[in-house]
Amino acid sequence: MTDHQRFAALTFDGFRALAATDGLSRYERIGFPDSYRAGHEANIYRDVRRKLTNLDLRDQRVLDIGPGCSDLPHLLLETCRQQGHELLLCDSPEMLAHIPDDPRVRKFPGRFPQDGDLAAHAGRVDVVLVYSVLQYVFVEASVFDFLDACLALLAPGGQLLIGDVPNVSKRKRFFASDAGVRCHRAFTGTDETPEVRFNAPDRGKIDDAAVLALVARARAAGFDAYVVPQAAELPMANRREDILIVRP
Ligand SMILES: C[S@@+](CC[C@H](N)C(=O)[O-])C[C@H]1O[C@@H](n2cnc3c(N)ncnc32)[C@H](O)[C@@H]1O
Repeated sequence: MTDHQRFAALTFDGFRALAATDGLSRYERIGFPDSYRAGHEANIYRDVRRKLTNLDLRDQRVLDIGPGCSDLPHLLLETCRQQGHELLLCDSPEMLAHIPDDPRVRKFPGRFPQDGDLAAHAGRVDVVLVYSVLQYVFVEASVFDFLDACLALLAPGGQLLIGDVPNVSKRKRFFASDAGVRCHRAFTGTDETPEVRFNAPDRGKIDDAAVLALVARARAAGFDAYVVPQAAELPMANRREDILIVRP
């Protein structure tokens, strides 16, 4: 089985199974071939820190929805220790079992927003991180309900980063460009031109319409919302982007 087949179409329960499978690397457990994440997570975290500036403050309440179990939650926990933050983590029990217990960490096992019992924190969370999770919610549940539930948690001044969103429209723009053709040829070692189909249905894939609808919905709910690029050195910056939302 190729990595592509193994990690294609993952669901919340698919991640539970990966979390409980022996013999996988910490990147494979969260659905990535090692080449996508090994050596990149410090850069990814630096990019997240640049956007979630509340992490630089003291004594914040921080929530990571879908933290997985590779380097990112550990880097985030280290920041929380340094800055005196409380860290709430919501993911499957199998995934959370890989993260060591810590006096600073509170685990909310289950699927957000249905499980996890985070409603008691409505309006009281200063930082919410949702990194590389939205694409799975997109096929299994309502991204609007997910967004609304995230927004309800934010305290005044609170920041929500819905990061690492694969946007098929951005991907198409890239592979239709000269830079994209060069990238494809270098990756495949061929002279092929990548096939890009516009005006075709992309079932299950997030596109510009979906990204911009989330931004519009957050704004209509009274939040500032922006589409922001990933740092150029990140492995999928040419086809993914982030949504940053701030409660005024
Ligand atoms: C691709 S991994 C990303 C992990 C981590 N955020 C990172 O970028 O390294 C997706 C994670 O989201 C979790 N997940 C997916 N849907 C979720 C939901 N509705 N609520 C909580 N966690 C979810 C999965 O169990 C998995 O751990």
